[in-house]
Amino acid sequence: MEFDLQELKSHWSLDPAYHHVNHGSFGAVPISVQKVQQEWRDRIQKNPVKFFARELKEEVATARGSVARFLGQQADQIALIRNTTEGASTVMRGFPLNSGDEVIVLNQEYGAVTKAVIRACEASGAKLVEIDVDYLDSDQRVIEKITAGITKKTRLLVVDHITSATARSFPIYELGALCKAHSVVYVVDASHSPGTVDIDLDKLDADFWFGNLHKWVSTPLGVGVLRIAPRWQEVLRPLIVSWRDDEPYPYPWDMLGTVDPTSWLSAPSAIDFFSQLGWERVRKANHQRMMFGRELVMKELGISKEEIRADFLPLGVVPIHKMSGGRDGAAAVQVKIAEEFKVEVPISFIAEKYYLRISGMLYNTPENYEALAVAVRKTFT
Ligand SMILES: Cc1ncc(COP(=O)(O)O)c(C=O)c1O
Repeated sequence: MEFDLQELKSHWSLDPAYHHVNHGSFGAVPISVQKVQQEWRDRIQKNPVKFFARELKEEVATARGSVARFLGQQADQIALIRNTTEGASTVMRGFPLNSGDEVIVLNQEYGAVTKAVIRACEASGAKLVEIDVDYLDSDQRVIEKITAGITKKTRLLVVDHITSATARSFPIYELGALCKAHSVVYVVDASHSPGTVDIDLDKLDADFWFGNLHKWVSTPLGVGVLRIAPRWQEVLRPLIVSWRDDEPYPYPWDMLGTVDPTSWLSAPSAIDFFSQLGWERVRKANHQRMMFGRELVMKELGISKEEIRADFLPLGVVPIHKMSGGRDGAAAVQVKIAEEFKVEVPISFIAEKYYLRISGMLYNTPENYEALAVAVRKTFT
């Protein structure tokens, strides 16, 4: 099997002792981008005072502008944050919920984000309404279930664009229209979206949207984006108060005390890395890898096409029927596969079902997925 863009493995510094088919969890940074980050660190260490006191402001604004352009936005439409966990906490801690309000989340939502919602509900007296959707539910069915869950008290809908455990997408534009029709505030967790799908953020017009670049844009860890719709920009402020707090959105976020800004500053070089290859080609090549791996695993587990969704993404899941032990059981099997077979692949337990998630990134070779298939055979059959 020859993949498109085959030759790119040497651009990463991944340990060849492992088969790394889990780009989706923590990404992996190309060597050239790691070098750019080191250059920023070196520059800062030549004169930290000069950099932080006199240069940081402009450099961060330039990086933010580049990230914004990549997302089809003006520089002042987005704020740089560290990750979507911070985005979710900022929104949920800052949003003015009232006692009696209802907040809808789906059972497929990322656990840490749901915890941020729970904390906000506990603090305000709002009620968490969890709606059960299945990995295989059609988009229409998902819309129907959410519609049925909306009441006069519904204040917020929090939804993933692409889920973590099941790597399925949700119809975010249609859900946005549904929220508008019911005057529900719309929060989109787009952790896996930048780099994997085209998004028109102006058209989407979510009240709050947060995404990561350290997943599918392979930036250094700690590059998140929080887009706040203009109608909320005076209401929602950073969780951390710093020197630029009096300025309009998004400037307060640009400098939250003394933190290492080099991940943000290196983000443009990661965007360039993939832009030079062509994003369309990259997405196709990544999807092709995931599909190759997924078919091998499906064959091992006897899973039919009807049990799989057809999202055009670089990550996808295979359900595992012969498993038990819940979340701890899934975590233990994941560790066993990593240690015994040297394959890094996530196994999740969500909504009473088990899934194995496969990622495709340019560094993956057929051998990675063949090793995964052997690990699956020896573990589950
Ligand atoms: C859907 C979703 N939301 C939130 C997160 C949290 O991302 P981070 O740890 O970068 O904040 C993830 C991470 O995998 C995710 O998949």
